[in-house]
Amino acid sequence: MKKITSSLALSLLFLSVSAQVPVYLDETKPVNYRIEDALSRMTLEEKIAMIHAQSKFSTPGCPRLGIPELWMSDGPHGVRMEIAWDDWTHAGWTNDSCTAYPALTCLAATFNPELSFQYGNALGEEARFRKKDVILGPGVNIYRTPLSGRNFEYLGEDPYLSSKMVVPYIRGVQQNGVSACMKHFALNNQEENRDKINVEVSDRALYEIYLPAFRAGVQEGGVWAVMGSYNKFRGQYCSHNELLINEILKGDWGFDGVMMTDWGSAHDTREAVYNGLDIEMGSWTNGLTWGESSAYDKYYLAQPFLKAIQDGKWPESLLDEKVRRVLRLNFRTNMDRSRAYGKKLAPEHTALARRIAEEGIVLLKNKGEFFPVKRSYKKIAVIGENAVKRLSQGGGSSELKAREEVSPLQGMINEYGRENILFTLGYASGNPDYSRELPSGLDADSLTQEALKIAKEADIVLFFGGLNKNYSQDCEGGDRKNMDLPYGQNELIEKILRVNKNTGVILISGNAVSMPWLGKINALIQSWYLGSQAGAATAGVISGHINPSGKLPFSIPVKLEDNSAHYFGKRSYPGVSDTQHYEDDILIGYRWHEKKKIDPQFPFGYGLSYTTFRYGRISTDKTIYSKGDSVIISFTLKNTGKIKGAESVQVYIGQENPSVMRPVKELKAFRKLFLEAGEERSTRISIPVESFAFYNAKTGSWMLEEDKFTVYLASSSQKTESSATIKIRN
Ligand code: GLC
Repeated sequence: MKKITSSLALSLLFLSVSAQVPVYLDETKPVNYRIEDALSRMTLEEKIAMIHAQSKFSTPGCPRLGIPELWMSDGPHGVRMEIAWDDWTHAGWTNDSCTAYPALTCLAATFNPELSFQYGNALGEEARFRKKDVILGPGVNIYRTPLSGRNFEYLGEDPYLSSKMVVPYIRGVQQNGVSACMKHFALNNQEENRDKINVEVSDRALYEIYLPAFRAGVQEGGVWAVMGSYNKFRGQYCSHNELLINEILKGDWGFDGVMMTDWGSAHDTREAVYNGLDIEMGSWTNGLTWGESSAYDKYYLAQPFLKAIQDGKWPESLLDEKVRRVLRLNFRTNMDRSRAYGKKLAPEHTALARRIAEEGIVLLKNKGEFFPVKRSYKKIAVIGENAVKRLSQGGGSSELKAREEVSPLQGMINEYGRENILFTLGYASGNPDYSRELPSGLDADSLTQEALKIAKEADIVLFFGGLNKNYSQDCEGGDRKNMDLPYGQNELIEKILRVNKNTGVILISGNAVSMPWLGKINALIQSWYLGSQAGAATAGVISGHINPSGKLPFSIPVKLEDNSAHYFGKRSYPGVSDTQHYEDDILIGYRWHEKKKIDPQFPFGYGLSYTTFRYGRISTDKTIYSKGDSVIISFTLKNTGKIKGAESVQVYIGQENPSVMRPVKELKAFRKLFLEAGEERSTRISIPVESFAFYNAKTGSWMLEEDKFTVYLASSSQKTESSATIKIRN
């Protein structure tokens, strides 16, 4: 009897307590019920507080109701060190180092969506452990010009590659209960004049080139937050742009998350209120180095918006719509008790950083099997500042405090033994800075003489150069002024070649550079900002432990004028009187090179291996297709070499007689195949016929014309291995 009484008492107690749990805190209730309940309990002032920053990287939540603050952190390649509450200085914590993952351009070069999911998951784990609710990445702006300061943060020049790589990254991050924040929406394709430039671009280029990755991130990735860009589009700032946000993002695409500013990208209260901005961050700052202190009440969505509602000028419902989205973000992150706990700096994080780096490195030239570098060499000259410079630093908001960063020099020493390595800087730059280039303080002539001295006595020379995320050398807030290597590297390479022909170059950058010495060197690797395991991955490829499988995510032009953005002069880049016109329209990257018959130095999708592959003939399951069909292509690929390797097979399509101008070919599928030596694999890839359509600006819809199409099976945008012709009948 006693037992029954106590369990009855307990259940009564439970019922009484559970009856008191407010709906918004009750995780058994549907999210929309919880949102409406929370909203109904808030005062006007509390709702206004929810939609703008209280500090550099947080919003206040609603303390009275126990709705937590939202904490955000950069960036796309790792969790940034803590920043001070109200200025851009580092907070000086000692528990905020991280795993530095390779830059997203490296991730794109892997052509491996599975790796992208793992990347996002690892980043989400580290962000969760650091108690961040939003990680401010990935960046998916298209690589239009090789001068853009932030291309290293993005996924290259092709909208399909960017779309396929961004979706798993977002899913990986968000499965940890941390929101990704896809950026910068939209048309942030240069850093020059970023906070004023007005971009004019056709609907066709907007929908076919610049929006697809964002659309995929929303509709396939389910991203919970999107960050507006600094620039304008058709005269209106992107962070409160009627067409981009209300019509396309939230209307056509059905985005139910939070639209936030970039830091300092809001400029008008009325537009911010009416054009879909939900959270305002970083106003009265330049997003990187300076800003007013404690300016939060001055924010466009703070006092000005509050007063407009109090004066009856604008309806409170406009505020409620924003708060609903912010609350949904809370419920998806820090009010979801079931979310993971995260972890950081785990061995698996380090291993993953290394694997992504290894798979992203691109071998561009290898005359006489220069690579792998033989173990018999006793004097291996390692020359260049990029062999030792910590490249996880700098670059702007994606800067990281990596717990470790294995340098290429250290990697080479670990691989070949200190006694066999001769090192010297060769050239030097200043420390990273976000507003100016700092001098190195070292004497260039002495550095050159020292370099030539060891090059002369070496068996082989490895020159580690490229860009370095210093100001205007792959850095936020500024573009490069030309495509040349900085710090006298070209002259130094020429001098080294005069004393030792057995020279290879390893470029580390996020952008294409001009290569006047290309014909004279034996080998060339395009490497990236590889993060914590840079040296291990680089030495792994150089030594042959790793067979390189990366492919270029962007075209490398011979000279800047061969690039689409620079062909039309200043009006096209960087713009005139704060306006630029994307005259290249849909023809950027390989689309441009092929249509205009301008051979690139190296094409999009190109990359060599230490083994060789043989492509079999492509076949299609039918020859005539209708709407709703998918084209099933089949082919074989054989590893005809002596070591295992991986090849990213690409599938492009080209329409024979389009009614509008179309590129010669467009990437519509790719598959990375890992094959043992001698292994032959049959593969099938399904491509929806709808993806063959072009955007018809007249009707505002995608159009698939009855016509012949060529399906190209290719090892790069320029090298077709096999092709087939099909017909589409509507
Ligand atoms: C910066 C960048 C953005 C970053 C944000 C916070 O200015 O443009 O990518 O996430 O502000 O640092």
